[in-house]
Amino acid sequence: MNVIEAILKRRSIRKFSKEKVSDEIINKLLEAAMAAPSACNKTPWEFYVVKSDEMNRKLEDPQYFRTYESPLKIVVCGNKNDFMANDREEFWVQDCSSAIENILLSALEYGLGTCWCGVYPVNDRTKACKSVIGLDDNIIPLGIILVGYPLEDKEARTQYEKNRIHII
Ligand SMILES: Cc1cc2nc3c(=O)[nH]c(=O)nc-3n(C[C@H](O)[C@H](O)[C@H](O)COP(=O)(O)O)c2cc1C
Repeated sequence: MNVIEAILKRRSIRKFSKEKVSDEIINKLLEAAMAAPSACNKTPWEFYVVKSDEMNRKLEDPQYFRTYESPLKIVVCGNKNDFMANDREEFWVQDCSSAIENILLSALEYGLGTCWCGVYPVNDRTKACKSVIGLDDNIIPLGIILVGYPLEDKEARTQYEKNRIHII
């Protein structure tokens, strides 16, 4: 699968088999994540790899999250200690988002499906996620990435709209 095919093929998958993802593949996903671009190369990201069934179920609590059952979740967080200063601080969201997209795309290489479930900036989700995982104050969870072998197939597509393009 080439890069364009992967970009079009990536869809949010919300039904997974119970099959575990190997540590070797998890590491490949994290290598891809940490190859992402980052403002001033601050790389302000931390990755919490949730393999335990017990913790996975906690991160599926519908009271707080819009997540689904998956055998693996990767919680992508920003580390305040590595943020840029002053009005550049919020660049961490873009840095961590580019790392997330790399996870979503590279997962396809291994036949895995993914779904990006947003946490920050929703206050109650952020609070619940921090408390479930037991994150330090300086760590902000941006998203919970569901990962697993897909039990649903979605068609590749773009949502191209010509009127969104403004040629100057
Ligand atoms: C920042 C962000 C937060 C999202 N949060 C959720 C979520 O909490 N639960 C969920 O099921 N999907 C979530 N999604 C996935 C979107 O619903 C999905 O990307 C969108 O419907 C387009 O479908 P596609 O991913 O199949 O192209 C999120 C996506 C992004 C980028």
